[in-house]
Amino acid sequence: MYAQEVKSTGKAVKSLEEMTPEERVFQTRIDADIKIEPKDWMPEGYRKTLVRQISQHAHSEIVGQLPEGNWITRAPTLDRKAILLAKVQDEAGHGLYLYCAAETLGVSRDQMTEQLLAGKAKYSSIFNYPTLTWADIGAIGWLVDGAAIMNQVPLQRCSYGPYSRAMIRICKEESFHQRQGYDIMMKLVKGTPEQKAMAQDALNRWWQPSLMMFGPPDADSIHSAQSMAWGIKQNSNDELRQKFVDQTVPQATYLGLTVPDPDLKWNEEKGGYDFGEIDWNEFFEVLKGNGPCNKERMEARRKAWDDGAWFRDGLMAHAEKRAARKIAAE
Ligand SMILES: [Fe+2]
Ligand SMILES: [Fe+2]
Repeated sequence: MYAQEVKSTGKAVKSLEEMTPEERVFQTRIDADIKIEPKDWMPEGYRKTLVRQISQHAHSEIVGQLPEGNWITRAPTLDRKAILLAKVQDEAGHGLYLYCAAETLGVSRDQMTEQLLAGKAKYSSIFNYPTLTWADIGAIGWLVDGAAIMNQVPLQRCSYGPYSRAMIRICKEESFHQRQGYDIMMKLVKGTPEQKAMAQDALNRWWQPSLMMFGPPDADSIHSAQSMAWGIKQNSNDELRQKFVDQTVPQATYLGLTVPDPDLKWNEEKGGYDFGEIDWNEFFEVLKGNGPCNKERMEARRKAWDDGAWFRDGLMAHAEKRAARKIAAE
């Protein structure tokens, strides 16, 4: 399986013969589906790739609270408000599990936060788009959490133990998120013509950014081959994107909504949909910091970090006092 995947992405990855004895033991374990745990030997590149991926994932969960948090005080009913609150709290929990998983690789949460606030660490571009109407909360749950599930389900089988275990719980919660979003869309399309139009408008704005969540096309994806050989990544970006389109288009049809893509067409031969070109220019612009809400999101995170300084200091002071008391008692 390992050799075939490397070949299919067309990038050179060391063969078993070219590896050092340590690397060979490591790769053999991965090929045998045995998890790598924090104290095991691992190549520096594996550790770095995981730190980058897990911290980016954690930051996405935390920044991802902001667009939806924008609607908590304006949810249309008490029930919707309670559901949305629970969902946004789940995302905070996801961020925390993931920061903990990354910490097992020797990076601290403070370091990861510093990298985010300095603009050195990335988070998912999708969270740089604004939530203009209540329907956006439906579209995010349905499409953004839907795409997240598609990305995260294979990560439950990731070769790094702490990351794969965090993903199991996260995936369970993501499926609730997806359903709450679809439920909002169902309600809107059965409502007044204005409400249905609002749902269509949200789909129009969130469709392309959701497809971008799977990352650049395979041909331009730099890290893929090695990540696959290391069991960090199981499927290519294009494969997952295709799966998402095939699953989501019938859901849009069921809602009576139109997917905003004139080139979308069922392809009998491949048993999936063909779809139009994605505007990768936009993707890279948002990634560079030029999306509609990049500045706002970073300002909100910086403010949260600064506002929380007294609390972190208090915790540290308390921990020091306890430690001092323990020493005095000994
Ligand atoms: Fe999440
Ligand atoms: Fe979610």
